[in-house]
Amino acid sequence: MEYVIDYINSHFTEYIEELKDYIRIPSISTLEANKNDMQRCAEFICSKLKDAGMTRTEIFQTKGHPIVYGEWIGEPGKPTVLIYGHYDVQPVDPLNLWNTPPFEPVIKDGKIWARGSSDNKGQNFVHIKSAEAFFKTTGSLPVNVKFVIEGEEEIGSESLSTFISENKELLKCDAVLVSDTSLYEPGVPTITYGLRGLLYMEVEVTAANRDLHSGTYGGAVANPINELAKIISKLHDKNGKVTVPGFYDEIQKLTKVEKENFKRLKFSDKKLSKDLGVKELQGENGFTTLERMWTRPTLDCNGIKGGFIEDGAKTVLPSKASAKISMRLVPNQDAVKVAKSFEKHIRSLSPKGISVEVKMHHYGLPVVTPLDSKAIVAAAKAGTKSFGKKTVYTRDGGSIPIVVEFMQKLKAPAVLLGLGLDSDDIHSPNEHFWIENFEKGILTSAYFLEEFSKV
Ligand code: BES
Ligand code: MN
Repeated sequence: MEYVIDYINSHFTEYIEELKDYIRIPSISTLEANKNDMQRCAEFICSKLKDAGMTRTEIFQTKGHPIVYGEWIGEPGKPTVLIYGHYDVQPVDPLNLWNTPPFEPVIKDGKIWARGSSDNKGQNFVHIKSAEAFFKTTGSLPVNVKFVIEGEEEIGSESLSTFISENKELLKCDAVLVSDTSLYEPGVPTITYGLRGLLYMEVEVTAANRDLHSGTYGGAVANPINELAKIISKLHDKNGKVTVPGFYDEIQKLTKVEKENFKRLKFSDKKLSKDLGVKELQGENGFTTLERMWTRPTLDCNGIKGGFIEDGAKTVLPSKASAKISMRLVPNQDAVKVAKSFEKHIRSLSPKGISVEVKMHHYGLPVVTPLDSKAIVAAAKAGTKSFGKKTVYTRDGGSIPIVVEFMQKLKAPAVLLGLGLDSDDIHSPNEHFWIENFEKGILTSAYFLEEFSKV
């Protein structure tokens, strides 16, 4: 093991250069214009898996973006870990808010700045490098490893969902390891045991059959933007509760133990509000900030469209307006039921003078992973070895819908061993990843493979 660790420690400079090459490929899954980049990125990461020592590598084409697979199963008696990650990234807009171009990685202040650096290229690359270090020093791995790196995480993982169902034997494993979440605090190894689910809807309001002069017709016909705003404003009550009927019906109550555990994490509201530049935090009454972010369902408007949005002024009474509205879900909310209830609720809030269309984009289920699996125990030990601190257990408010599917279809426990930080600005301008977390991540991954071979 010492050789492996020494090898890793003496190769960080090269690893960073390779990560930069990975990041330079603008693999934005949601944009048609980047389709070729997706294929290029899949080929890039596939060749890295090969170089790392995987004896079988393959790119599986799908209806959407390719899935990259790599395996080394040379230790039949040992457990098998499936390492999941995603090579796709979010769009970069608004571009003018970036300090440096999003796909030209720059190292500054101990961080690597670029789209995808933290979410998720930097985080999945660590596992490839740790596997490589074992091969270069010992010629084999302590456990069997299967890599699945997909290109549709940021758009709902539809192809991978089908792929898992159709390839259960290929993907058979004893645990699924995912690094796509955050450390609780810098320097603190973290296992996330719960994620929220997501339900993404769009509401389109139409009033008149065409855009109108707002002087000629204003006051006589509904303005879809005004009406949409009124509807949105009624989606929460004065206690911060979502007003969709039945929204909270099936929710699991937080146990006393969990509440106590959260308290022990000593979360500071003050620190967060300062960091985010708000005078005060707000949310559902009766819950702490950690409870609100990690365990309570929410509803948010993610975008709103309508009327004249260019510079300058135009007097217009638009015909249409629309809003993208997503809900974060928690165990055991039923996404389909919530979607139906949401649509009914929107209709009940709509006046006769408009027509409304409600559409569902996609949904993904929340997850709570078992805390006593052998893989979690191994991951906690590995984190402590590399970071030199006790591993903490958290939940998180973000979503990785495919995790539940891995767990259910492969009947394997998941381990969410995140290496990002909430402050990494993922999905925002100036995304970055701490070099320290990249380096400690590679070491953690190596220790994990070693620890997991002992169980
Ligand atoms: N890595 C994130 C999920 C995440 C973010 C977990 C922060 C924990 C903390 C992932 O890439 C992501 O962004 N997921 C999407 C889900 C999806 C269906 C678009 C999300 O949470 O919005
Ligand atoms: Mn993401």
